[in-house]
Amino acid sequence: MPFSRHWSHQLPSGRTIEITTVTDRPELANADIDVGGWPAFMRHNRVSEAYFPQMVTAFASTCLIATADGKPIGDAHSVQLARGDRPEFPSGGWEQSVVWAFSDARHGIRPDTACALNISVARDFQGEGLAALLLAALRDTSAALGLAVLDAPVRPTHKHHEPTTPIQEYASRIRPDGLPFDPWLRTHVRGGGRITGVAPASWVIAGSLAEWRSWTGLPFDCSGPVEVPGALVPVECDVVGDRAVYVEPNVWVRHEFSTD
Ligand SMILES: CC(C)(COP(=O)(O)OP(=O)(O)OC[C@H]1O[C@@H](n2cnc3c(N)ncnc32)[C@H](O)[C@@H]1OP(=O)(O)O)[C@@H](O)C(=O)NCCC(=O)NCCS
Repeated sequence: MPFSRHWSHQLPSGRTIEITTVTDRPELANADIDVGGWPAFMRHNRVSEAYFPQMVTAFASTCLIATADGKPIGDAHSVQLARGDRPEFPSGGWEQSVVWAFSDARHGIRPDTACALNISVARDFQGEGLAALLLAALRDTSAALGLAVLDAPVRPTHKHHEPTTPIQEYASRIRPDGLPFDPWLRTHVRGGGRITGVAPASWVIAGSLAEWRSWTGLPFDCSGPVEVPGALVPVECDVVGDRAVYVEPNVWVRHEFSTD
């Protein structure tokens, strides 16, 4: 029987949303979800440019689409890979995971791990718990496929407010109720995830100073760290070399599945 998953939920606003795998609705793969305010420079990661559009085809059973009235309003992309002898939580986070996943798929290696690389919710639907529903659906579909865990190199959504705070310190900051300070890490932990470490070099964007100026509107005229709106850490500018490099750290979260 073909693999098929389907979830239906009512949001606090009363709107009904449907979640399915891309296997079930391939025509909605790669739908454009307007999340609002995504920094322009973030669209220039080369590993993502090469692989992101292929994820929904290569890993359709762990890629999800959420719709309201038939229109796409959220999605979640998760690749599948075999940990084997590889580090469980590689420093290269997002980029390393996607490269390993496509390498395994090319060589026909059976995956044992799902790795969530993106969850997006359309701006009109944010703040209603849809991301948590997508995450729960990702866990469910990964477990149903027989995968052992769902890992995620998480981009903490409020880290950009304090780019000079070390990521280890930020990731381990806890509220009085014992949950992470960061809202997106909090959603993962509430959903059953456990913070397991950081990926200091998860997502790299390198370009000429002219490119960085066009992406950010900033002068990039002095060597050294440059704080860019939306960036989790400063961008390193090298005027003599005519280049600037952003090395984004992410936070590893592991979701284990109940064996009951
Ligand atoms: C991050 C994102 C997926 C969260 O989706 P969501 O459906 O709004 O999330 P939830 O409603 O489950 O809320 C999750 C937490 O974020 C908080 N939150 C949601 N929207 C927020 C906003 N606009 N401002 C501040 N906090 C917000 C919620 O309060 C909640 O935390 P709390 O309940 O502990 O207070 C969504 O905002 C998004 O798509 N952002 C752009 C893309 C992105 O950053 N994706 C994640 C990295 S891949």
